[in-house]
This record gives sequence, C-alpha cells and structure tokens, in this order.
Amino acid sequence: MLKIVTVVGARPQIIKAAALSRAIRNSFSNEIEEIIIHTGQHYDANMSQVFFEELGIPNPHINLNIGSASHGKQTAQIIHDIEKVLLSEKPDFIVLFGDTNSTLAGAIAASKIHIPIVHIEAGLRSFNKSMPEEINRIMCDHASTLLFVPTQTGIKNLEREGFTTGTAAPYTADHPGVFHCGDIMFDNLVHFSEMAGQKTDIMQTLDLKENEFVLCTIHRDNNTDSPERLNQIISAMCYIAETMQLKIVIPLHPRTSKIIESKLPKDIYNRLTTNNNIHLIPPVSYLEMIMLEKNSCLILSDSGGVQKEAYFFKKPLVVARPETEWIEIIENGAGIIADADELKIIESVKYFMNAGHLEFPDVFGDGHAAEFICRTMLDQKK
Ligand code: UD1
Ligand code: UDP
Repeated sequence: MLKIVTVVGARPQIIKAAALSRAIRNSFSNEIEEIIIHTGQHYDANMSQVFFEELGIPNPHINLNIGSASHGKQTAQIIHDIEKVLLSEKPDFIVLFGDTNSTLAGAIAASKIHIPIVHIEAGLRSFNKSMPEEINRIMCDHASTLLFVPTQTGIKNLEREGFTTGTAAPYTADHPGVFHCGDIMFDNLVHFSEMAGQKTDIMQTLDLKENEFVLCTIHRDNNTDSPERLNQIISAMCYIAETMQLKIVIPLHPRTSKIIESKLPKDIYNRLTTNNNIHLIPPVSYLEMIMLEKNSCLILSDSGGVQKEAYFFKKPLVVARPETEWIEIIENGAGIIADADELKIIESVKYFMNAGHLEFPDVFGDGHAAEFICRTMLDQKK
C-alpha cells in the first residue's frame, strides 16, 4: 500500500484535492491510502466545508486550524504543525497542490525530513516575484521529487530552470521526475459539469439568463490591497453594468468583501451596491460557480482557477492582472490581459462582446490527470 499525505488549505486546493481523492476511491483504493491534512488557511464554511460536502471529499483526518495571519506567521505555524504529522504518519509521499502558503509550508516541512514531495500544478510561472504565489511555487518545485505539470508552457518553464523531462526512475529531489499530465481542475469539470445544472438553482435564484451576464471574481492581494487598482477594477464593473447595461455577478472572496466595505470610497461603493444589474454575492459553491461560468457571456477575473475554467467552458476572458501563468489562453485569442486598468478592461469587454467565433484548442489535457498522477506515484513503489 502506498501511503500519501495530501495537504489542502485554500479553496482551490480543496477543489483540486477532490479530483485526486475521487481517482483514488474509484480506481486505486486497494493500492493507495490517503491521509488528508487541512491546514485551516481557509475556514469559513463557504470557503472550505461546502466543497468537502459537495464534491464528496473525505473529511480531513487532521485540521491544523491555522486561520489567517501574516505570511511569515501563517507559513511558520503550518510548517511546525505539518512536521509533527509527517513524523508520526511517515508517508511515502506528501502531495501538494498549487502555490499557496500551505503549499510552501508543506514543502519546507517535508523536504527537511526527507519525505518526497509530489507537486501538482508544477511549472507555472508569472515571472513576477512580487506575487507571493510565484515564490511559493518556485520553492516548492525545486524541493519536489515528482512534478506534475498541467501545460507544455509549464514544462518549458521548468526546463529553463534546469529540470529535465524524460529522465529515468528512481526519482529523488536531486533527480526529479517531471511529467506533463494535463490539468487536474479539468478532471473536475469533466466530472461535475453535467450534474451542476440538476443540483443547483443559482440561475433561477439570481434570475439570470444564458449568455446575458458577466461573471467576475477578484481576490489577488495586489488588487485588493491597492486602493488605486481596486478602484479601477470596480469602476470598470460599474461602467459595464451602468453604460453597457450588462448584468454582472460577483461572488466576493472574503478578503475582497472586507476591503470593499472598509476602504472603498463611498461614491464607488454606492455605485457598486445600488445598481440592479450588479449581483454582489458571498462565495458560491463549486457547482454553483461552474453553472455561473458555463452560462456567462464573459468572465473577468484575477483568479488562477477561474481563468482556466473560463477556457474550459469556451468563454472569453479578461484578466485583471498584469500577467498570467495560463499564457495559452491569451495566445489562442480567448483572453486579454487588461491588468487593473479601467479603460483596458472596458475596451476588452467591448471587443469580446462584438468578436465572432473564438478558438479554444485543447491545452489542458484529457480530464484524467488524477489517474495519471496516481499511477505514476505507484510506479515509484515498484
Ligand atoms: C490565498 C492564496 C492565493 C489563492 C487564494 C485562493 C496565499 C499566499 N494566497 O489567498 O494564492 O489564490 O487563497 O482563494 O496562500 N479570509 C476569511 N475567511 C476565510 C479565508 C480568508 O475571512 O475562510 C480572509 C481573512 O481576512 C484573510 C484574508 O481573507 O486575512 C486572506 O486570506 P489568505 O488565505 O491569507 O489569502 P487569500 O487572499 O485567500
Ligand atoms: N470558486 C468557487 N466559488 C467561488 C469562487 C471560486 O467555487 O465563489 C472556485 C472556482 O470555480 C475555481 C476555484 O474556486 O475552481 C478558484 O479558486 P480561487 O479563485 O479562490 O483561487 P486561485 O485559483 O486564484 O488560486
């Protein structure tokens, strides 16, 4: 039996973990034992528990209940607590997703006590080291033994940093295995997309019609914590609702809702909260979110996961960031990087509203990344 410890903490990691746990349950339950640690980085019910229930993820065996804190304090506390679990569980691998502080902490804790790291969503780069996520992912990749890379761009990024693909096992942190396997979030969409319509009524609740609204999420720290950037993005949303007369649905990350309430200038706050075309709502469940994505006419976001989901559902994307790790979306003409620039966001929305047919060639795999990852981990045991 292969024993793995999977670490989740933030919303997108819980969603990614759903795909891995499902693959283990359906196809590898006699060969892989999974122990799930929840760091507690995200803790509101609508940022955490809802996904366990809705996506059928086993309850975490351990919740470290870390909660919110500064980067240093949060990361240090997770390292401290994960180390204890790893020392007692002695897994064959620790499995880490993405690029959050929970990812980095897991990587530091495991590497120092020589527990091999499996990094899912390896190789992504924004080439912007002021992003906390860029530091987290670079450090995690360079401590990993098995790197599972969603895109060919990710493979090229790793090769540029000295990694080699196609090397032979046995793999170690000094001789890592790098695998292009497609995107684990795509596994979830393939699995849940059909049933979302039957299991949620968010379209009816918000009185939305297919292709008649823009979906928007904003939570990056450089957008929420910069009044100038936040004002530009929100002003663009108001313009879309007021002047373009498009409905906008904005499921608000708690980080963003706190800042909007406490810091947004009163005039923009009033425009945002009193316009009937704007639905400012709490975070939604995953099935609700994919119903909104699937039925929207355009997605405006600074989220990593939501950018990809826009592409999966063949929706035009406006990226409210200066760059993206998912460069294929931009290269294929399905997305525009508008940064936090009010005019550029508005121009990009107008462009897509009038654009004809867009191309969405497959770049994120076949929906079976999780099975590939399980088989590759098992191969290392032989
Ligand atoms: C984190 C990740 C980011 C990821 C995002 C996914 C890091 C450095 N950042 O950002 O990469 O894209 O999760 O959503 O790891 N809060 C609540 N309730 C919660 C969780 C958070 O109120 O359940 C509020 C707190 O005020 C907290 C703030 O949100 O201080 C930020 O939370 P944190 O986990 O530090 O960062 P995110 O912005 O969520
Ligand atoms: N998501 C969700 N409810 C929401 C907003 C997002 O279920 O209200 C999902 C979304 O579908 C995607 C993931 O959360 O699967 C993206 O997470 P997030 O944007 O928080 O983080 P990022 O991907 O930027 O790290």
